[in-house]
Amino acid sequence: MSSLAPVVIDNGTGYTKMGFAGNTDPQFTIPTVIGLPNKNSKMTARYGIASKRGIDDLDFYIGDEAIANNKTYTLNYPIRHGQIDNWDHMERYWEQSIFKYLKCEPEDHYFLLTEPPLNAPENREQMAEIFFESFNIQGMYIAVQAVLALAASWTAKKANHTLTGTVIDSGDGVTHVIPVAEGYVLGSSIKSVPIAGRDITAFVQQLQREHFETAIPPHDSLEIAKQIKEKYSYTSQDMASEFIKYDNDPDSCILTHRAIDSVNNTSYDVSVGYERFLAPEVFFNPELVSSDFLTPLPNLVDHAIQSSPIDTRRGLYRNIVLSGGSTMFKDFGRRLQRDIKRLVDGRLTESDPVNNTSLKGTPIDVNVISHKKQRHAVWFGGSLLATTDQFYQYSHTKAEYEEYGPSICRHNRVFSSLA
Ligand SMILES: Nc1ncnc2c1ncn2[C@@H]1O[C@H](COP(=O)(O)OP(=O)(O)OP(=O)(O)O)[C@@H](O)[C@H]1O
Ligand SMILES: [Mg+2]
Repeated sequence: MSSLAPVVIDNGTGYTKMGFAGNTDPQFTIPTVIGLPNKNSKMTARYGIASKRGIDDLDFYIGDEAIANNKTYTLNYPIRHGQIDNWDHMERYWEQSIFKYLKCEPEDHYFLLTEPPLNAPENREQMAEIFFESFNIQGMYIAVQAVLALAASWTAKKANHTLTGTVIDSGDGVTHVIPVAEGYVLGSSIKSVPIAGRDITAFVQQLQREHFETAIPPHDSLEIAKQIKEKYSYTSQDMASEFIKYDNDPDSCILTHRAIDSVNNTSYDVSVGYERFLAPEVFFNPELVSSDFLTPLPNLVDHAIQSSPIDTRRGLYRNIVLSGGSTMFKDFGRRLQRDIKRLVDGRLTESDPVNNTSLKGTPIDVNVISHKKQRHAVWFGGSLLATTDQFYQYSHTKAEYEEYGPSICRHNRVFSSLA
């Protein structure tokens, strides 16, 4: 067992969260992007043929630095829809995360890494190979993101300290509804929604174009849309009455956002109207952005729970936990809870149409848990679990890796509730 804090890294489609176990927030949250030298840039041309491989290998940036150098470096996004897509880029990304950002010696640490639900065992082996062979780490545990999100929710006031619950994880690239019973993901009941943060940003950008927000320069329009989405959006309880409210009292509903042109530094104003409540509304009325995916999120949560084993369902409704940046809209949990409860109650009354009473007797308790660590819930849950003795017991060590090889990481033992 190491005396130094384990390193916790959650690589998301859009953002990587990294830091040391025991902290409440990640030390760095940076875009999951790597910038490699343009093939025809002067530097590469000059060093190209004669260079030792070593120089080329070190010439890259990750995160915001890669974006800032996007004229001379080509941006690559190694994770797509939550899954690692390019292992070579990912390995280099981890290398800078460890040495340049966290500035630690990997051989002195255990690592907790995360994976999306239903990750293929081969991916775990590949991760193990890179971390044990290239970085020579002491030990590692690969945790399912949804399980970490459940652990993170233990900080909430209404929290159930269990690893049974339904996680709604919505980040930049994917939204999943994941029922978990006693730490085990109920794989066949997982539902996914092809809408997440970047689609909502694109929708806000489109609304602004349609409203002739001509002040916004094209080179900044995506970034402004993202800022507006994150800063001014909220979840309404009813879309139709919200439109009426805006039309009756535009002065108090329509806001002004002051922006600065990233090229010439001049400032300009953007008005922010319906997009404030329409942005999160896409989860409840997906037809706003999609013509083929039409199931509202509350219905999908209900389907996920209904398709889980009957003896787990009450626990799954009782503990619906939010995780990820795209669940951060104000009042998102409140609307979800109300809509899911309506579906559940509707079914109870339907089930005995003669007396119009419930056949099941006790009504079902529906709770959607919002909490302060929701934005980085996966990372925070990892930070909590990696401080426990169980983490060290369940981690695969370097000695085991050397004896048996990457196949030891095909499976990870499941944490039990630590309550
Ligand atoms: N306050 C906020 N309101 C709404 N959206 C937000 C807010 N803060 C961040 N976001 C959005 O959350 C997304 C990033 O979330 P997160 O870091 O959980 O994603 P990720 O882990 O990179 O992606 P994924 O889990 O899909 O692989 C971005 O689209 C960002 O715009
Ligand atoms: Mg994520």
